[in-house]
Amino acid sequence: MSDLSVELCGVPLRGPVLNASGTFDAIAARRAFGDALLERFPFDAFVTKTVTLAPRQGNPPPRLWETPGGMVNSIGLPNKGLDGFLDGDLPQLADLPVPLVVSVMGFDHTELERLVQAVGGRDEVAMLELNVSCPNVETGILVGADPAETDAAVRAVRDRTTKPLIVKLSPNSVDPAAVARAAEGAGADAVSLINTLKGMPLDPRTRAPWLGGRTGGLSGPAIRVVALEQVAAVAGAVDVPIVGMGGIASGSDALDFLAAGAGVVAVGTESFRDPSAGRRIGAELFALGGFETVRKRQPV
Ligand SMILES: Cc1cc2nc3c(=O)[nH]c(=O)nc-3n(C[C@H](O)[C@H](O)[C@H](O)COP(=O)(O)O)c2cc1C
Repeated sequence: MSDLSVELCGVPLRGPVLNASGTFDAIAARRAFGDALLERFPFDAFVTKTVTLAPRQGNPPPRLWETPGGMVNSIGLPNKGLDGFLDGDLPQLADLPVPLVVSVMGFDHTELERLVQAVGGRDEVAMLELNVSCPNVETGILVGADPAETDAAVRAVRDRTTKPLIVKLSPNSVDPAAVARAAEGAGADAVSLINTLKGMPLDPRTRAPWLGGRTGGLSGPAIRVVALEQVAAVAGAVDVPIVGMGGIASGSDALDFLAAGAGVVAVGTESFRDPSAGRRIGAELFALGGFETVRKRQPV
């Protein structure tokens, strides 16, 4: 598989298939599969689920709804918080055989600065991903939906670490290309997209919202064409590399994202159906053989 090796923001990867944040629990998988997980790790870099400054319980149940071609989740970013992550999870994630990307989200700039400085200062961490799919608590505006908010958030943290910063864009924006340009202008080293699309399934018996969090995020094959359009739009707007995701379930899907302008891809919902999907998709991409041509056209 060495022919699929790439560099992302100067970090060498053995291949172009990452996991999408929050969709593969490497610590639980290690408990279940032991060292076999490390020998056959499904991804070429590992992205953690989003870490916030304070611990979070997440949203009340129910948290999942299956929909044709995808699912809607309202997990609500449950996590141990920064200290719990650094003390509990990071030492275990450091054992993984691939570079580690830590996803962080702050509810204001002070929180973001603290997260980026603490996580970015750790040798085990190769890159950081800023999840900007949250409201600014002062303005109420979804940070990732607004170029000015994204610019301010990235500027606030840019000098807090020398590690590469990936900004994870929200698809729930009028103009993702403008948000990507703002992220790049403020110093992002890469952008990743798409996050989930906002949705609201109703309980068929009561016609009231099914999810405990009322609304949730749609993921899976149903969002693939939306993601492809947004990746192409962003690729036309920025020079930084793109991590493309949204409904990737096969090597052919991955190749579509590379053709649309992504330098590497990430697999999310498909890993719930097939925990080794990342590895399979890498092998399918290799077998398809178009990777080199597409990569030459759109270098990472
Ligand atoms: C259960 C679940 C949890 C997720 N958690 C996070 C998260 O913690 N941080 C984040 O940036 N994105 C999160 N996402 C979004 C995914 O990383 C990804 O952007 C999205 O699901 C689209 O890719 P997919 O269609 O391949 O799943 C989550 C998605 C799912 C389905």
